[in-house]
Amino acid sequence: MVELYWLQGAVPETAAPTAEMPPWGETKVVGTRQPRVDAYERVSGSAVYPRDFTLPDMLHAALLLCPHPHARVKAIDTSAAEKMPGVRAVLTGRSPGADVPWYGRGDKAASRLFDDHLRHEGDEVAAVAAETPDQAFDALRAIRVTYEELPFVLTPEAALAKGAPSLHAWGNRYGEPSVYERGDLAAGFAAADAVVEGTYSTACELHAPMEVHGSVAKWDGSRLTVWDTTQGVFAVQQAVAEALKLPLAHVRVIGPYMGGGFGSKLEGGKYTVMAALLARATARPVKLFLTREQEFLVTGNRPANTMKVRVGAKKDGTLTAIDYHSMGSGGAYPSGAGTAFLATDLYTCPNVRAVDENVAINAGRARPMRAPGFPQGAWALEQALDELAGKLGLDPVALRLKNVPTVSQRRGNQPYTSTGLAECLRQGAKAFGWDEARARAKGTGPVRKGVGMAAALWGYGGGPPSTAIVKLFTDGSVNLNMGAADIGTGTKTVMAMVVAEELAVPLDRIQIEHADTGTTEYASPSGGSKTVPSDSPAVRAAAVEVRSKLLALAAEEMKVPVADLALDGGSVVSRKDPAKKLAVTAVPGLQRQQVLVGVGTRGPNAEGKVVSEFAAHFAEVEVNERTGEVTVTRLVAAQESGRVMNRLTFENQVRGGLVMGLGLGRTEERVLDRQTGKMVNANWHDYKIPTALDVPAAQEVLSVDPKDTLCNTTGAKGVGEPATIPTAAAIANAVANAVGVRVKDSPITPPRLCALLHARGKVG
Ligand code: MOS
Repeated sequence: MVELYWLQGAVPETAAPTAEMPPWGETKVVGTRQPRVDAYERVSGSAVYPRDFTLPDMLHAALLLCPHPHARVKAIDTSAAEKMPGVRAVLTGRSPGADVPWYGRGDKAASRLFDDHLRHEGDEVAAVAAETPDQAFDALRAIRVTYEELPFVLTPEAALAKGAPSLHAWGNRYGEPSVYERGDLAAGFAAADAVVEGTYSTACELHAPMEVHGSVAKWDGSRLTVWDTTQGVFAVQQAVAEALKLPLAHVRVIGPYMGGGFGSKLEGGKYTVMAALLARATARPVKLFLTREQEFLVTGNRPANTMKVRVGAKKDGTLTAIDYHSMGSGGAYPSGAGTAFLATDLYTCPNVRAVDENVAINAGRARPMRAPGFPQGAWALEQALDELAGKLGLDPVALRLKNVPTVSQRRGNQPYTSTGLAECLRQGAKAFGWDEARARAKGTGPVRKGVGMAAALWGYGGGPPSTAIVKLFTDGSVNLNMGAADIGTGTKTVMAMVVAEELAVPLDRIQIEHADTGTTEYASPSGGSKTVPSDSPAVRAAAVEVRSKLLALAAEEMKVPVADLALDGGSVVSRKDPAKKLAVTAVPGLQRQQVLVGVGTRGPNAEGKVVSEFAAHFAEVEVNERTGEVTVTRLVAAQESGRVMNRLTFENQVRGGLVMGLGLGRTEERVLDRQTGKMVNANWHDYKIPTALDVPAAQEVLSVDPKDTLCNTTGAKGVGEPATIPTAAAIANAVANAVGVRVKDSPITPPRLCALLHARGKVG
């Protein structure tokens, strides 16, 4: 199995809330609905995103990308470009310091910063820095590149065919197929009363963040400062330091705001290193951001996958065998394309085989995208289970309830003591009105109604390392210092709530410093749905340390044992004698020291506790049998994500997950032209992300209250990814329920659906 690189180390070792830090019982602030602490900045436009950032004397850079799907650079002539008005530097692979290995290290690197072997449309050829953006783009047109065009492959099947052009010295396979097996598959199918089999596919999707990728780079002597739009400043620091052979301490990466990443901004980009090289060559700050079209070509994607699924079950719904095969492409450079996680772990099934294959093609490289591999896996597995339920005459919810796992066989029998999955299924069905909706008439006109559901698991629960610092000032205001990026999910607000819970300070008295490698403490990139579970225990520990110090100082003054003291509003109060009270600002020790500092680190997760998150989504659709148009009319999401930290941002994040699921199910698809190998919809008009008109107003988000919040000291798990995994499959199942044909290839477009309806003679 392809383990995801940025999740390594996040898979729990495990340890628990301690005597010093017992689990929270009832909380006062945590769990409430709180608007974002930076809501005003975000909506008023006063928040400075890296794309908005300017410096005095700053140059503007632009990139020249390869127009061909597969080519070799024979020659580059930059002399005319260098003489263009305003041009200050032209950078190619031949420039000093620019021969840098990329996508891997040393002789294992799959590419260079600028590689003469160009493996997809959009591979970087040159960069120009000029006084204005227009001058930079004009100069790109004056660069003369002689390309040798090469034959190209756009699908894994073509890439594996005999005589196919090779993308890499080792061929076109990213490793041997990964094979996972347990039990006896043949015996499992022999024991089944019903078996279904099908081939499913998901289209390649693009992250399409609002803010395109890019950086501003500035040198002060040998020290580099980068303002980057990123999910992880420390990951960018490491990539840039390595590429430029600088000590980590000489690279400061700052990313206070970022306009969307969804996994595409987890790592350092070539553009950052190019901006730094241009800045060094010109002794000026340089801003290099991609254009929208370039963004679609080079910053990653959710790979297309083809999944063959065969599942068998007993009459009562007990699964006996799952045979799962997934073929995907990480694109032109190594990146994960596995999808088998759900097939092996979502349900208890004794006999499983799951194979993942990953093959290079001449198209942009994949990057993790909101639950990498899982939505594709759900699309296949959860449709197959729907069909199996139909064949057995069982309710789809009942079939799943029959197979709720108690242990993760994949992860060495790590327990699932949580009833999360079962409760998501039960409570989601109840909130949706599943039984009534199933019984309802589908309609007699061309518009048919249907309902469907699907379930999911996300298996990464956060963990060390993470460090946070909390400071209490003499006026009772507080500073929280943490390295994590807030990628739009409300991380800052949640962390402020954790501090407010422990220090009884209002949220507007808490100031946050974050996402700056120069001034804040280490956090892993915000991704994997593990930011809050990884970092909130560190923040809590830091706040608890400040409280301990404050109470100890107050105890001296109040002549009360420290164990009797508590914080209440802005005061230290004796629990035994509430008349004994001292304002925090009046604690002499605080005034003496001026600031009390607490440092918190993230310990390992609790032994034997569940870190996985669960979800069940329910969809209602209307399908026009004449036009093939699908309207999603209602969505219900039941999520088990541990303790809900902020009810408002929790719900909003789940809504965002539903919208991205709608995109997978209904609209999103990268289209590569078979003749030219070029992407034909690299813009926001032709690449269809869902709009407000596609999103049903009827949405319900349910938090299934967990029985067990002892996996870490805040009880938080993640929500970003489990919130999008099963949505598309639930929609597909609802479409099948409405019209009796199943669209196995995403997205469910009118032409696709019409073709299937025609084949069955169903078009009204
Ligand atoms: Mo994500 S794909 O965990 O940013």
